Amino acid sequence: MSNQENGMPEEMKPWTELKLPDLLSSDAIRELHAAIESEWDSSRRSACQIAAGRALWKHAIHDPLAELFAGETYMRSIYEKIKKDRLNNAREISGVIVAVRTLWFDSKLEAALSSCGGGAAQVVLLGAGMDTRPYRLSCLKESSVFEVDYAEVLQVKTNILEAAANSKDEHQHPIMTAKSVRRVAADLTEDDWLEKLQMSGFEPKRNTVWVLEGILYYLSHSDAMKVLKIIADKCNLTRTVLLADFMNKQATTLSSSVFKFYSDWPDHLLPSLGFSDVKLSQIGDPDAHFGLLQDPLNLFNKLRNLPRSIQTHPDDGTPCCRLYLLQASGSPNQTIS
Ligand SMILES: C[S@@+](CC[C@H](N)C(=O)[O-])C[C@H]1O[C@@H](n2cnc3c(N)ncnc32)[C@H](O)[C@@H]1O
Repeated sequence: MSNQENGMPEEMKPWTELKLPDLLSSDAIRELHAAIESEWDSSRRSACQIAAGRALWKHAIHDPLAELFAGETYMRSIYEKIKKDRLNNAREISGVIVAVRTLWFDSKLEAALSSCGGGAAQVVLLGAGMDTRPYRLSCLKESSVFEVDYAEVLQVKTNILEAAANSKDEHQHPIMTAKSVRRVAADLTEDDWLEKLQMSGFEPKRNTVWVLEGILYYLSHSDAMKVLKIIADKCNLTRTVLLADFMNKQATTLSSSVFKFYSDWPDHLLPSLGFSDVKLSQIGDPDAHFGLLQDPLNLFNKLRNLPRSIQTHPDDGTPCCRLYLLQASGSPNQTIS
């Protein structure tokens, strides 16, 4: 059966061998990933895991650097999960949440930039990890992008980008699509991250889109609230757009040692902090679907059809683990007092 006949992209066929770029097996890149595996905690390593998800959903997301950032171990482990899901005809294929989430943030970022006056706004990626938006989104061409993460994560990112730029394979060369990108080494649980951002050129009075993708639930409740409050306060100064994903309480039980902050009602929380125009989406909603959830009986549809106050599935008693995608904004003349 041909690809078009069964509708399955080549790299998603369970019987295809996983092909990895040669550069991934170079000594320099291998050493970087060996250090990540032995020295980083799960929160830092999650940056590479997410990159692997994006790399393996390449029929939906064009992220040619993702394999290098993911490393061979995560590429193989997520590939095996996808293969198993395909062979078992699972209703949801591993990595689909990452794929939908990435595309949701991409599309909302593009819309937010046009709402901020044609794309010249600053963009701050908090907990940027191995996000490659400054190298893959043309909507950033007039934007100064700031990537905030731990120093060691950003250092490895820089090293991998350098290795790609020096590679003999021209297809691996990173081409920046943003106006500029600055990496800001900071810990979001410390009080100085905003100061460090400003020292790197962030202008508090300039329109800003804040991208908090896969970060809030790694923070404690008080740290996450402090970060959200700092961003909300910027609504008093300039047009501010927040794009963020939130876990509900049940979702944090998936790994109670790693996930901390949650909100069951982020669409109520954000207005209470000073944001307006708050819109909540769930995976599978019309703006968070992207044609990637073919089976109408998939878990996400089941969740969407249950009231959000319900904590466990009435059918089987399993926890209702939800990921909420939030867009919110504020401007000086709009701010709720
Ligand atoms: C799941 S990854 C998400 C990365 C990226 N936003 C993406 O979607 O590809 C979480 C990222 O948050 C970073 N992170 C977690 N806690 C942090 C903190 N306290 N300060 C700065 N970065 C943090 C981790 O290092 C990691 O890169």
